[in-house]
Amino acid sequence: MNPELPFFPEAASTVAGDVDVLFITWSVISAFFTLLIAGLIVYFMARYRRRHPEEVGARERTALWLEVAWSVIPLLITLVMFVWGTRVYFKIYRPPADAIEYTAVGKQWMWKLQHPEGQREINTLHIPVGQPIKLKLTSEDVIHSFFVPAFRVKQDAVPGRYTSVWFEATKPGVYHLFCAEYCGGEHSRMVGSVIAMEPQRYEEWLAGGAGGKSMVASGAELFQQLACDTCHRAADNTGRLVRGPALDGVYGSEVQLASGGTAVADDNYLRESILNPNAKIVAGWQPVMPTFQGQVSEEQLTQLIAYVRSLGAGEGTAAAGGTGGPSHGPLDSAGGQIDSPAPQTAGPAKPEQQ
Ligand code: CUA
Repeated sequence: MNPELPFFPEAASTVAGDVDVLFITWSVISAFFTLLIAGLIVYFMARYRRRHPEEVGARERTALWLEVAWSVIPLLITLVMFVWGTRVYFKIYRPPADAIEYTAVGKQWMWKLQHPEGQREINTLHIPVGQPIKLKLTSEDVIHSFFVPAFRVKQDAVPGRYTSVWFEATKPGVYHLFCAEYCGGEHSRMVGSVIAMEPQRYEEWLAGGAGGKSMVASGAELFQQLACDTCHRAADNTGRLVRGPALDGVYGSEVQLASGGTAVADDNYLRESILNPNAKIVAGWQPVMPTFQGQVSEEQLTQLIAYVRSLGAGEGTAAAGGTGGPSHGPLDSAGGQIDSPAPQTAGPAKPEQQ
């Protein structure tokens, strides 16, 4: 509990203060105008009440300056609050570049969480204090919502796509984690906790658990198990990839599409390309990839994406296959792949570099 405001949740993240100041300011302004308007209504009701049955109201002239003032002043107040609120919103929903990515999968009725090092947890998330953490969210069934009041963050976990939320805990403690979207019969029991620890203690905790493989290592393993490497890695005897584009440096790059237009190879694009490969074909390639819908779980998808990401982030359009323009034929595109700076032979041997 917050000692100053007992009905307020504890403020334990870097954005909590901003949210609270905004919230309290809005509340004070709203209360002021509510009381002012309600008070005037009551006062005028009494002051200008009809005193005789035959009394007729007099026509009043309103001063122009008064009309202008009570239109312009509220407009300015709401504009200031809009700009202020927008700035806080962007601060909450744009993760800083140094944020470490964790994943959370909502499921009726639990939160399945995984650390980048591979540690898995259910309904409990251990995090280090003072480290920005980006949580990549998705759902296995219906819409859930990841809500940690002490951090002042809330984000929907939507089936079929990724959303994200970030936070940086400012002090150690155990904080409530709620599902804030009605998701079925046991929704109210879909609760857990976020445990913020001093970095030293967090490292000890991490070392003590059965860590398992890192996200990237698991993804690299899947990449081979699912035979992704036969098209996205193995070249023919001339050193060209003939069936699918190389994935080195693709993550985050702009990809030229066969349909014209471009797409940014972010988490949602990679997800779609695995589950529904024909949706957005890269220019210069044939739609020959089978779908992996039903063959990979949500958790495996995030591992595969973590692996592709570990192959290097793209810069601009240079690393994405077939970006020389729509006039390039398949062979040109494939040749362009070979010339890209990332080595084709980089196999699952380098997963630990993330
Ligand atoms: Cu999950 Cu409500």
